[in-house]
Amino acid sequence: MDQLDTLLAAAPQRIQSAPDLDALKDVENDLLGRKSIIAESRRSLGSLPAEERPVVGAQLNEAHQRLSALIRERRTDLERAVEDGLLLEDRVDITLPARELGRGWHHLITQTLDEVADIFVTLGYQVVTGPEVDTAWHNFDALNTPPTHPSRLESDTMYVEYGNPDDELLLRTQTSTMQVRYMEQHDPPVYVVAPGRCYRTDTLDATHSPVFHQIEGLAVDENITMADLKGTLAYFMREFLGPERRIRLLPHFFPFTEPSAEMHVSCFNCDGSGCRVCSGSGWIELLGCGVVDPHVLEAVGYDSSGYSGFAFGVGAERLAMVRHGINHIKHFFENDMRVLRQFT
Ligand code: DAH
Repeated sequence: MDQLDTLLAAAPQRIQSAPDLDALKDVENDLLGRKSIIAESRRSLGSLPAEERPVVGAQLNEAHQRLSALIRERRTDLERAVEDGLLLEDRVDITLPARELGRGWHHLITQTLDEVADIFVTLGYQVVTGPEVDTAWHNFDALNTPPTHPSRLESDTMYVEYGNPDDELLLRTQTSTMQVRYMEQHDPPVYVVAPGRCYRTDTLDATHSPVFHQIEGLAVDENITMADLKGTLAYFMREFLGPERRIRLLPHFFPFTEPSAEMHVSCFNCDGSGCRVCSGSGWIELLGCGVVDPHVLEAVGYDSSGYSGFAFGVGAERLAMVRHGINHIKHFFENDMRVLRQFT
């Protein structure tokens, strides 16, 4: 019992000063474990005179409970300290300024297509889009392009081996497909622009890429003439390139228009006097256009004696290059932020 008293006297201090959970475990083992004085005393209770046993037994129990309670308390404290330490380590200073997420913007090509579409929307046109994989009918036949036309060769057009071979599926080479698709579904009058991606078997150079974008325009109504085409294109160019620009139409050939023309715009860099940008001519070739060939109207079931139309197709890359003085088409596809950031 003397030993027990000494033990009990020293125990609170030992328990309290256990620096961590492992140390406390050792102290607990010492005080209450199988080899502790309390445990050994309990085991030897049997050797005591019968009348002493309950008294000593009760003292041992009481000592055991007291020590257990102290250990439990200390353990709770130590556990809380561990948890506090973890929380402290995980602490986030919410008063720090947030890391700014860069704000995105549309790619210059998307901006260009949107802007052209908007110009035509103000003229009452609708914006339509369609598939990039299309049939030879939509891309060529209905557009009055004969089976022997060189643009149909694989050296120009990428064909897709899928579905019915008679469909001659291909990656559309022009957004002119949308002329056909729209007119097949709608009666005149028609005023639509069709922005979208096109594909050709072109090798990348400064002005060509196998993937590029066009925006197609089509107007079909009663009494549409070349004059309507010219007025519309002049308005388009004034809006897109500024009021100083002049346009001219030069005779050209496209299977789906008759007459066909190439539209030139006065050079934005030298205003027509001739410079490096326009190769000295004062003019920049920008797009193809013309009066819709009656064959095209008939291919979609329109009455070509009652209706006429004009159409044009313009490359978005070309428009952006001319407007911003961009000297290589690759800049649109390389995603170099130093380039793209200039057009937010
Ligand atoms: N589709 C022609 C091309 O990709 C461009 C074009 C020319 C479209 C004349 C037209 C047009 O609608 O009338 O080269």
